[in-house]
Amino acid sequence: MELSRRIEDELAAAMERVDAGSGPPALAAAMRHALFPGGARVRPRLCLAVALACGDRNPAAATAMAAAIEMMHCASLVHDDLPCFDDADIRRGRPSVHSAYGQPLAVLAGDGLIVLAVEQLALRTAATPALVAPLITTLTRGVGMPEGIVAGQGWESEPDPPLARYHEQKTGALFIAATAGGALAAGGDPEAWIAVGARLGLAYQVADDLLDAVSDAASAGKPCAQDGAHHRPSAVGRLGVSGAVARLRGLVGEAVAAIPDCPGAGMLRELVKAQAVRLVPAALADVAAA
Ligand code: IPE
Ligand code: IPE
Ligand code: MG
Ligand code: MG
Repeated sequence: MELSRRIEDELAAAMERVDAGSGPPALAAAMRHALFPGGARVRPRLCLAVALACGDRNPAAATAMAAAIEMMHCASLVHDDLPCFDDADIRRGRPSVHSAYGQPLAVLAGDGLIVLAVEQLALRTAATPALVAPLITTLTRGVGMPEGIVAGQGWESEPDPPLARYHEQKTGALFIAATAGGALAAGGDPEAWIAVGARLGLAYQVADDLLDAVSDAASAGKPCAQDGAHHRPSAVGRLGVSGAVARLRGLVGEAVAAIPDCPGAGMLRELVKAQAVRLVPAALADVAAA
């Protein structure tokens, strides 16, 4: 099955369980708003691509891991957009969850998605019990304290956040969960995939910092020029635009070089290179070509 189909069907199945229950309908709608329609779905696609490269021995587990990672990501965006964080009223070109449903439901929708991610992963891996604990801890490490998204966001409440650690934790950690988790589900060695996830995650955040610096809300679908406005450490602030483009290129090259030997290594290298071209915002085509 096509990768996107596996991801969308799994996310839909998780939301169907929510809708079938007796919970408050507006909260269920807020969770659905956070998940659908999706954005780039880059983390779950990476997870499945790594699983395929490693032989995809347990496709149900790989799909469940991919969907759980995307639910965590969507939850992180709901919380990130709240007025107490980035105060963003649009996301993916439409109202952010708190703009559409109010702050109490946005907080709860994010919480609900975090719990749903772990629950769905546990439910869908019942046939491969040896994988349950390693997959769940790989996932939660990418999200919680002290290494995951929660830690990364927490740096924004420190006086002088270190850029590298901020980026590694707020974004890199969930990419590591994607590559290590895809390998784990397929019976590969998760340790061998950590460097690939770490480099791709950092590249992705540098690309997001560039987008923030050179794009606008109409094309990005979310507020731009926010890193400066909120005094966030950013790759553009540190390196300038052309320095950040060079850093992005370097990180992608390092990620490709870190792909370990596996049946689908060649396929994955080409996939990463092809996707990386799209990371440079259109407004920077000239800088990237230089
Ligand atoms: C946005 O992630 C937040 C970052 C860590 C850069 P994405 O750019 O993957 O967001 P969606 O899911 O495509 O909207
Ligand atoms: C968000 O980082 C990363 C998360 C962990 C939520 P940003 O605040 O830079 O991402 P955008 O620009 O809002 O998508
Ligand atoms: Mg933020
Ligand atoms: Mg933000």
